[in-house]
Amino acid sequence: MQSMSGSCYNSRFCKKTTAMPFTTSPSATPLVELRQVQFSYSAGARNILEGVTLTVPRGKITAIMGASGGGKTTTLRLISRQERATGGQVLFDGQDLATLTTEQLYAARRRMGMLFQFGALFTDMSVFDNVAFPLREHTQLPEAMIRDIVLMKLNAVGLRGARALMPSEISGGMARRVALARAIALDPELVMYDEPFAGLDPISLGTIARLLRQLNDAMGLTSIIVSHDLDETFRIADQVVILANGRIAAQGTPDEVRHSSDPLIAQFVNAQPEGPVHFHYPACSVAEDFAASGARP
Ligand SMILES: Nc1ncnc2c1ncn2[C@@H]1O[C@H](COP(=O)(O)OP(=O)(O)OP(=O)(O)O)[C@@H](O)[C@H]1O
Ligand SMILES: [Mg+2]
Repeated sequence: MQSMSGSCYNSRFCKKTTAMPFTTSPSATPLVELRQVQFSYSAGARNILEGVTLTVPRGKITAIMGASGGGKTTTLRLISRQERATGGQVLFDGQDLATLTTEQLYAARRRMGMLFQFGALFTDMSVFDNVAFPLREHTQLPEAMIRDIVLMKLNAVGLRGARALMPSEISGGMARRVALARAIALDPELVMYDEPFAGLDPISLGTIARLLRQLNDAMGLTSIIVSHDLDETFRIADQVVILANGRIAAQGTPDEVRHSSDPLIAQFVNAQPEGPVHFHYPACSVAEDFAASGARP
């Protein structure tokens, strides 16, 4: 990663610094905590999460892994309170998100950055304007300062020189790095990355993974990464949480999880198609769907 020191402005707001400051206060409280969280998307629907308890320690990278459809993206949505838990508590910096006023919720969200699973860039905006977007939306900063911040963030992801390009003119890996710069534009304390490695070639994947680690450490961030990439994720994470069948199946260091004797974890870590983790979305029996005369839709 290129140097992020030098003329560097912290957009919260706007001390000149020679080194990136630690933005999180030293505190024993985990930055994010889920306590017995239950969640279903609508009343009467099946529970996606059934009593999930997990902690996200400050300054660390927590990876949330698990089978497709297991509720990883949903968990991120609960942490940013795009969805509300139907049971239990989701705490951010010790505060129960369910109790926040709209104003307090917006303030909490400003402390979070998000790289969405399918988060595309705005195609009609340049790389520069994509990164500037949250600053223009959420702050009253003058353009000159926005320019400095955008260039600093682009520098951090190695793309200061690509500022004038349009999304159609950059590669998939570069686009991911621009989205990353946009996610950290407001100097969040917590950054959530949903599938940051998806669709990348091995070199871009390694670059992004290293970048996430470096940004986490240099900026004193707390990161949550949702990923299917076992090798890279286990390499950069401090803590791995495996979500399966609506529950936490394991939570520990990458080494602890890798060497777990639990059959469910072993299935996941060894990428075995058969095992306790269900492949099929819940459905009626095959016989019911195919043997009958096609009365069902
Ligand atoms: N907006 C929604 N409305 C209703 N159900 C939803 C909605 N979003 C997701 N689901 C369901 O919730 C479950 C969990 O989805 P989620 O997106 O959290 O999974 P995931 O673990 O992120 O999967 P993947 O690894 O494929 O991204 C799935 O069964 C999905 O069908
Ligand atoms: Mg997902």
